[in-house]
Amino acid sequence: MSDRIKRKIIIDTDPGQDDAIAILLALASPELEVLGITAVAGNVPLELTQQNIRKTCELAGRTEVKVYAGANAPMKRKLFTAEYVHGATGLNGIELPKPTMPLQSQNGVDFIIETIMKQPEKSVTLCTLGPLTNVGIALERVPEIASRIKELVMMGGGLFEGGNVTPAAEFNIFVDPDAAKLVFDSGIPIIVMPLDVTHKALTTAARIEKIRAIGTSVSTAVTGWLEFFERFDEDKYGTDGGPLHDPNVIAYLLKPELYAGRHINVEIETKSELTIGMTVADYWQVMDKPKNAIWMTELDADGFFDLIVERISQI
Ligand code: RIB
Ligand code: CA
Repeated sequence: MSDRIKRKIIIDTDPGQDDAIAILLALASPELEVLGITAVAGNVPLELTQQNIRKTCELAGRTEVKVYAGANAPMKRKLFTAEYVHGATGLNGIELPKPTMPLQSQNGVDFIIETIMKQPEKSVTLCTLGPLTNVGIALERVPEIASRIKELVMMGGGLFEGGNVTPAAEFNIFVDPDAAKLVFDSGIPIIVMPLDVTHKALTTAARIEKIRAIGTSVSTAVTGWLEFFERFDEDKYGTDGGPLHDPNVIAYLLKPELYAGRHINVEIETKSELTIGMTVADYWQVMDKPKNAIWMTELDADGFFDLIVERISQI
């Protein structure tokens, strides 16, 4: 790996068990240079998401990672959280000690802006695993960052799978549709991992057993998280396992061949209370609007979980 250029990334996240597994996957992958991890309010309030990032880094033995707290509420709307899915701590499923590694004093939004302005143009990839509030605020403050970002790979939205908070809206976009609109209108090259693809990444019993068989404290935490996190969606969808959303963002950077999708136009509903946060994805290209996102729909699920087992084993 030393002779290959590492891909510089910033992870913006609201852990959340699936976010935490995505963070572990990134930290376990020498292809990636994690410049920093920024917390956003989402699954649980900011005070918990920033702690959960640090708990996850400490679990991986990576206390040198720079962790920042960003926005504690959406740009315009009231915060809506998901303890009903993730539990009161956001990382229910295993008890982890209160973190002792430092939280950086710089605000996460300022870190995102400063890093993108300082790093060479088109060298930093943003990986967003939660509501897009931090990125939306950064774009509003310094619009020119849009032309300097290499790519933004996000988990969010849904079309063929509908929504998971309302029939129309997926959680990350629903929580902050105004930030999402700024991102999709920004001109940043965007790769979307919507429910259409994450619903193909089911944490079946067989897949969880393969992770448990790794037999480390990290794999024990991951299986504890998965067994807690999946129960809500198993009940809702009647499936063996629940969809593992956020690690798809990191897996795409490591093995893009696991995915297939289409370059299309995506716009965000920010007005109608019935469909607020809907990703209006023109998959059949019925409108002649500019294509602003690659919308993933296909996944090699076995390859995805093999990658997770392979990398988690290396922590
Ligand atoms: O809808 C799924 C998304 O919402 C995931 O990112 C999950 O962590 C929650 O943030
Ligand atoms: Ca998330």
